[in-house]
Amino acid sequence: MANLDRSPLIVGSGIAGLYVALRARELGLNPVIVTKSRLEESNTRYAQGGIAAAIGPDDSPARHLEDTIRAGAGLVDRAAARILTYEAPRRIADLVRYGVPFDTVEGRIALGREAAHSRARILHAGGDATGLSIEETLKRRVLDAGIEAREGRVLRALRNGSSLGLTAVLSRDDGRQAETLDPRPVVLATGGAGSLYRESSNPSVATGEGVSIAFRAGALVADMEFIQFHPTVFARAGAPRFLMTEALRGEGAALRNVHGQRFLVRTHPDAELAPRDVVARAIRRELDRSGEKAVYLDATGIPPDRLYARFPTVTRFLATYGLDPARDLIPVAPMAHFMIGGVSTDVEGRTSLPGLYACGEVASTGVHGANRLASNSLLEGLVFGERVARQLLQPGSGGPATPERVVTLAGNSGQGHAGTAAEFDAIRSALWNQVGIVRDARGLRAALERFGEIRASAEPGDEEELPGPVANAALTASLIATAALRRTESRGAHFRSDHPRTLPSWKVHIGLVRDRPSRGLRRSGSTTVKPQGGSRR
Ligand code: SIN
Repeated sequence: MANLDRSPLIVGSGIAGLYVALRARELGLNPVIVTKSRLEESNTRYAQGGIAAAIGPDDSPARHLEDTIRAGAGLVDRAAARILTYEAPRRIADLVRYGVPFDTVEGRIALGREAAHSRARILHAGGDATGLSIEETLKRRVLDAGIEAREGRVLRALRNGSSLGLTAVLSRDDGRQAETLDPRPVVLATGGAGSLYRESSNPSVATGEGVSIAFRAGALVADMEFIQFHPTVFARAGAPRFLMTEALRGEGAALRNVHGQRFLVRTHPDAELAPRDVVARAIRRELDRSGEKAVYLDATGIPPDRLYARFPTVTRFLATYGLDPARDLIPVAPMAHFMIGGVSTDVEGRTSLPGLYACGEVASTGVHGANRLASNSLLEGLVFGERVARQLLQPGSGGPATPERVVTLAGNSGQGHAGTAAEFDAIRSALWNQVGIVRDARGLRAALERFGEIRASAEPGDEEELPGPVANAALTASLIATAALRRTESRGAHFRSDHPRTLPSWKVHIGLVRDRPSRGLRRSGSTTVKPQGGSRR
């Protein structure tokens, strides 16, 4: 018999949302999923490389943990990353139980290599169709379990509810027919913000609205300056921005400049398998030098049979552009890929607002530090999704500790005009041009000014008005740029040309809250408050 009182609303239908829904149902709850497009449309679907877990005979969670910490450039929360890496094998067992068809070799799950992993530990399915296989499997399970899934529904606002949870306001995806739900626990699993950037590997649904809505409701947001750029996204004029998975480099593909040189061997001892931020910046420097729009991924050294079998999705895509990866060089460039920060949570997925949980890309748990290790993102959705499901059943008190630096920003302060497509494009261009792979104070200030103008027009004027997608986009963009301007150093995915060094004094997190006190946060009058006692986790 379902426990209706703790029946959660789950917003988003990628790996985190679907997995929480399934586990919540198994624990006796009656979850409802809302998703702004179709159930199967999410960033998860497009994940190619795979999901990391230390299940190989030469591997251990301790090694996975150390790799995760090393990639994170000094900001990984060790306790959270320990949970991520040590609980990984059990969550993989859950996926196997649900029927995810991981690729095997001689009866054992096959493991691939990706950048900055010291061992082959990337599980994959359908070659390079890992996300698609996981998404389709979990979707089928959700439908088989009879879990209510409402497609084409957008979360518009979260408001104070009751002891049962928050009041969510939903509408259809065209903004019509707003509907207010009874108070209940709300799980944000809305994914990232990659498609707010003009150049991105993400599908158009990834607009970071979970962050802006939680922020408006008073939730603490953290680490927003860390946007990860994937080094190798297909870069041909007029073609879709299609991911060329890092697993290609794990199998031996090289990166060449316009002169055919492997420029990464000059940059890092691990060359093409250096951490993602290093590779992305090296490509960007190469493009700045050459004036070209792309460098070249060279997979011709991989035996063709292996290449086609391991990368059928990539091979099929390239064929539509007349390219054969066994023969041709593939034009690629770095593009926005993953939001490392997000809505701040503790290791149980609890945000600073009672009744609001977050997991997956929308959450900031601290596991990725300043730079996410490849294939830790699908894993994050599972590991912290499990913890959220358990909290839904047996809620405990807690939440994220206040980061060392906290910046306050205005919440609703505009004229409530519906934004325009031109404003949306302006946000995407400003993020790409001025809040991109390389940043400086001048560009960040200019971008913030532009976002501020758009917010002044499109933000709701009061708490009752519902923000639209342009207001949400401008707010999320402002959060990214504000944190990027504050961090006057370079670390991981955040690179400032005017502050190129990594500084010990910046081994801290930046939190963002709106300019009215929110429950669960101790606030001072200044923009910076001291950390609360105890661990963040
Ligand atoms: C990829 O396949 O290169 C993307 C995987 C990830 O972002 O972890």
